[in-house]
Amino acid sequence: MIEVDDSMDIKKFFTGKEKIDKEFKTSLNPEKIPQHIAIIMDGNGRWAQKRQLPRALGHRAGGEALRGVIETAASIGVKYLSLYAFSTENWSRPESEVTAIMQLLVEFLKKEAMELHENNVKIHTMGDLSRLPGNLDKEVERVMDITKDNTGLVVNIALNYGGRDELLRAFKKIHQDISNGKLTVNHIDESLISNYLDTATIPDPELLIRTSGEFRLSNFMIWQLSYTEFTFPEKYWPDFKGEDLIQAIIDYQNRDRRFGKV
Ligand code: IPE
Ligand code: IPE
Ligand code: MG
Repeated sequence: MIEVDDSMDIKKFFTGKEKIDKEFKTSLNPEKIPQHIAIIMDGNGRWAQKRQLPRALGHRAGGEALRGVIETAASIGVKYLSLYAFSTENWSRPESEVTAIMQLLVEFLKKEAMELHENNVKIHTMGDLSRLPGNLDKEVERVMDITKDNTGLVVNIALNYGGRDELLRAFKKIHQDISNGKLTVNHIDESLISNYLDTATIPDPELLIRTSGEFRLSNFMIWQLSYTEFTFPEKYWPDFKGEDLIQAIIDYQNRDRRFGKV
């Protein structure tokens, strides 16, 4: 069993509020800030392994990194941040690690809820929440409720999320609405399918970031990412800083997005 023990200190790896070089920040083009950034926060386990720490501490360190990234995203005017926290495939990890991740998610929400709220952040989720442990489900509902009227950055957390599972659930709902007469087959088009996804109210991401040097989607937002720009920074997620987010956005701003045109 991996215990998430408060006495195991990861603080020494984090030096508090990150100061981002002003000049670096101004190298961003304010006209071309992506509205929606999706992040596959990968590499927590390897981060811990490199320091001979238990994997659970890597996940805790990942939470610390997340705080800084949310703060930076909000400060530069990103509207939506989608975060892959737990996939439908992650249930196949050892039970002790799954338990530790769930516990850390509860802890993260409990600790950060008020600060997120004070910063006008709205919490949204995607994924099938019905399989989450009761205490996490309850905490998620609580934080969503507290922040529901906020108008700032939307932090969209993917919990028990899989892109294929999301599509499957959407197709079942569409079938149901056809059966009960709300829809006919002629209503089905791309925008209708988008509206049946967990991201119904959220535009598609312009930028995807996957950390840790892995080059795959791992079942993340497969419908929504069809025209997104991808970046793959090598850093493990706990090492990813606000500055790295800004660098990814600068890379994005230098891309030529053609959408099939010449
Ligand atoms: C990402 O880090 C967090 C989750 C999947 C929950 P990993 O735990 O996948 O870290 P690595 O890939 O093993 O280093
Ligand atoms: C994707 O990372 C899921 C999350 C970051 C939550 P994984 O580490 O689970 O993906 P694979 O197994 O390397 O594809
Ligand atoms: Mg991984």
